[in-house]
Amino acid sequence: MTAEQTYETPDCLILPDRRAAEAALAERIAAQVCAKPHSVLGLATGNSMIGVYHALVGMHRNDGLSFAKATSFNLDEYCGLLAGHPSSFASFMREHFFAHVDMPRDSVHLPREDACAEYEAAIAEKGIDLQILGIGRNGHIGFNEPGATLTSRTRVVDLAPETLAANQRDFPAGETMPSHAVTMGIATILSARKILLLATGEAKAKALADALEGPIKPRNPASFLRLHPKVGIVCDSEAAGLLSSTRTHADA
Ligand code: F6R
Repeated sequence: MTAEQTYETPDCLILPDRRAAEAALAERIAAQVCAKPHSVLGLATGNSMIGVYHALVGMHRNDGLSFAKATSFNLDEYCGLLAGHPSSFASFMREHFFAHVDMPRDSVHLPREDACAEYEAAIAEKGIDLQILGIGRNGHIGFNEPGATLTSRTRVVDLAPETLAANQRDFPAGETMPSHAVTMGIATILSARKILLLATGEAKAKALADALEGPIKPRNPASFLRLHPKVGIVCDSEAAGLLSSTRTHADA
């Protein structure tokens, strides 16, 4: 990372490429866990996160980064998939992270459609120190699709047509993906002490610009993040492509 390639404002770090953005997010998660081994982490899935988990697993193997005292709460899960379905977020987390680090099984929490209130209660009891988010092309965070309200909590939601179109690729050929999911709500996410959102690739540029510079409205659920005092955005130059010139040329 060099001074010419990056700039940082209180809320936005733009890196030259996807790999650098993933590494920067992984470094921030590692710093959180090093500073507070008992950290409670809110975790996300999705393609954007694969490189982040890969980097964290590398730090666990090579640098002694330990998750032994940490706790995690995942953001969301599809409804109606059988246990062990390869496209479930539980499988994603196992494959990319949990199977390779030392976080105790009992410290891992995944939302279930039949236990939303219990999930909220467990989060409220522990408090999330650092919530990690990706962003959907329509501005969704977790599976809070456009229209989600500021007061929403963990619940079952309908997936938006754009999300169905984007995520069908994660399911085996010939299998139709679920139309519903369980997700932490906007209020659940905003209850975290700190939040970091990762956006990479051109396909996220419009959603990111609307979230950071458009109105704070349910139409772009990520815009609600601007109501939180400790939010950081980590993105690559492609995802930052539609941010205002003041922001994008701040390093010039
Ligand atoms: C996943 C999640 C979603 C994703 C978003 C981006 O747990 O909560 O909000 O972060 O759909 O997904 P990718 O990274 O696959 O583009």
